[in-house]
Amino acid sequence: MASLQHPVPSQRDLPGIPGTGAKGQGSRGMGEEKRIRVLIVDDIPETRENLQKLLQFEGDIEVIGTAAGGAESIEMAKELGPDIVLMDINMPDLDGITAAEAILQVSPHTQLVMMSVQSEADYLRRSMLAGAREFLTKPFTSDELVTAIRRVYRLQPRIEAPPLIQRAPPLEEVSRPPQPEKRGKAIALYSPKGGVGCSTIATNLAIALGEEGKKKVALVDFSLQFGDLGVLLNLQPQSTIADLVPHIEELDDILLDEVMQAHSSGVKVLLAPPRPEMADLVAPEHMRKILAQLKSIYDYIIVDTDSSLSDLILTVLDGSDKILLVIAPDIPTIKNARLFFEVMEALDHPLEDVILVLNKVDRRGSIQEENIEASIKHPIASRISNDREAALAAANQGIPLLIGQKNRPISQDILALAHQLREELEKVEKAIPEEAVSEPRGLIRRIFRSPGIR
Ligand SMILES: Nc1ncnc2c1ncn2[C@@H]1O[C@H](COP(=O)(O)OP(=O)(O)OP(=O)(O)O)[C@@H](O)[C@H]1O
Ligand SMILES: [Mg+2]
Repeated sequence: MASLQHPVPSQRDLPGIPGTGAKGQGSRGMGEEKRIRVLIVDDIPETRENLQKLLQFEGDIEVIGTAAGGAESIEMAKELGPDIVLMDINMPDLDGITAAEAILQVSPHTQLVMMSVQSEADYLRRSMLAGAREFLTKPFTSDELVTAIRRVYRLQPRIEAPPLIQRAPPLEEVSRPPQPEKRGKAIALYSPKGGVGCSTIATNLAIALGEEGKKKVALVDFSLQFGDLGVLLNLQPQSTIADLVPHIEELDDILLDEVMQAHSSGVKVLLAPPRPEMADLVAPEHMRKILAQLKSIYDYIIVDTDSSLSDLILTVLDGSDKILLVIAPDIPTIKNARLFFEVMEALDHPLEDVILVLNKVDRRGSIQEENIEASIKHPIASRISNDREAALAAANQGIPLLIGQKNRPISQDILALAHQLREELEKVEKAIPEEAVSEPRGLIRRIFRSPGIR
């Protein structure tokens, strides 16, 4: 393995080592398509050489130059206009973050991928603020490097040169009647206590809703720091919510489609960032925009959350049509659920939008349902059986209950919940005028006004 300072050439062979060849995943024949033009910037000659070697067998990537410092990199970027600059952060003459800012001035279409041995949140935040699109912590593998370059290139803003001759719009564009705006329903799964089962239920609920009515279903992991949906569905976080942040102003269905991953069930999944510190990149406003865009594409948007009542989570709850409050029959969870309802009440949030789901129901359990309802002062709307063995196997294998163990009572209970939810949402749709449904309810605004919550 290379030293900490250098990228690790794992999973791909280097020259002189058997098995080396231009067979890298995604390699294309030379000249078939435009290649990604990369400029490498690092003050250590060995790192520059290593990076060049790692990239030389990728048919779709071309290293067009290397620079030994920040100042030189600005000059080269101005002259060469690279698609991607791979930029080291710690350099003696001019640090990579300052150089990155300058490069974006002289070559605005260039995308920046920062590299550092430090993965501190501050470095990451400063890089992203400087306009970087990706952050690689050394040592990284050649696959991580190539994937990052391709992803950043793929997601670059679609700035197209204006056509020389103004084309007439295609016929179908002229004659097509305006499409009615879709109004998907967002359902947030929330628990005021961790480990209660939100992610398990979110995953299977999304699959159930997709199955039941042949509807378009999105599943979103707004549990930003430690999101589990990738693991539960056996999906790699190749692209995540973090990739949408730099493009939030130009967010559209094409961009969302590129970042969301397709699960074999048909559900499209928007994963949480791959590292906890990257959660800091996502602001409530981003969540609001993402949710609104998803509603214009999907019928149902199932949103997983974490157990905090942060601005981020309140934004999600605010933008959701229904909140499934997931609890388990234990005293700490029941106590927190009662507090959650008190907060919602203080904020004038319509309590009928909150559906109480009792998970891990064990007939031999010591706490009676009537006592739970009396304590929380809200009826339990749905019950899901306790089946530790099935839930654990599903999580460990990355095969959701509704795919691998559909006949178990736990799976049937989630199917029943999906059915109940769908009926409920259809009822709401018929009863409420459209404008009223789409208006956010302003939980965040109210939380600061409320005398009880500070
Ligand atoms: N009905 C159930 N019966 C038994 N075990 C369950 C059930 N639902 C979930 N579990 C188990 O409970 C644990 C927590 O589940 P899960 O990760 O879905 O909860 P969570 O609320 O999303 O947790 P976190 O706070 O970590 O996000 C897991 O081990 C899961 O397998
Ligand atoms: Mg979870």
